[in-house]
Amino acid sequence: MKIAIGSDHVGLELKPDIIDYLKELGHEVSDFGPYSNERTDYPIYGKKVAKEVVDGNFDLGILICGTGVGISISANKVKGIRAVVCSEPYSAKLSREHNNTNILAFGSRVVGVELAKMIVKEWLEAKFEGGRHLRRVDEVEAIEANDDIEFENIRTSDDERYL
Ligand code: RB5
Repeated sequence: MKIAIGSDHVGLELKPDIIDYLKELGHEVSDFGPYSNERTDYPIYGKKVAKEVVDGNFDLGILICGTGVGISISANKVKGIRAVVCSEPYSAKLSREHNNTNILAFGSRVVGVELAKMIVKEWLEAKFEGGRHLRRVDEVEAIEANDDIEFENIRTSDDERYL
């Protein structure tokens, strides 16, 4: 897969190991910065990576800051992004299977390198299950679009996608 990665100056501590690991797993990785540990702001990189993913230039994105919180909140402000912040592999896996997340975030001050690799692996290997989960993701998208559509209408849709 093509993966876009970004961090802030704190997440940069963990980023090189994660880039190497992604390459080891056979993925193509592009690093959207920062490239030095000079203090910077996580929204810059959260937005950059999020845009690359929604524009279809990359399949998925990975973001790292101190906690993973600020950078995931920033990415989630970009329409079409479903970013999850994880500090264990179970939520990472389920976030793909049920919530179709397209960005994974974690914190370099929260997880060590081996746990981060495990989280990344589970997330990348999981597949969105669709079905009832698709309906819920559609409901989330309706909120994002500020659509006045009642969720009931989505639920009663005879669209085969929801089977
Ligand atoms: C930077 O000090 C820190 O706030 C940032 O890396 C991140 O943890 C924010 O959510």
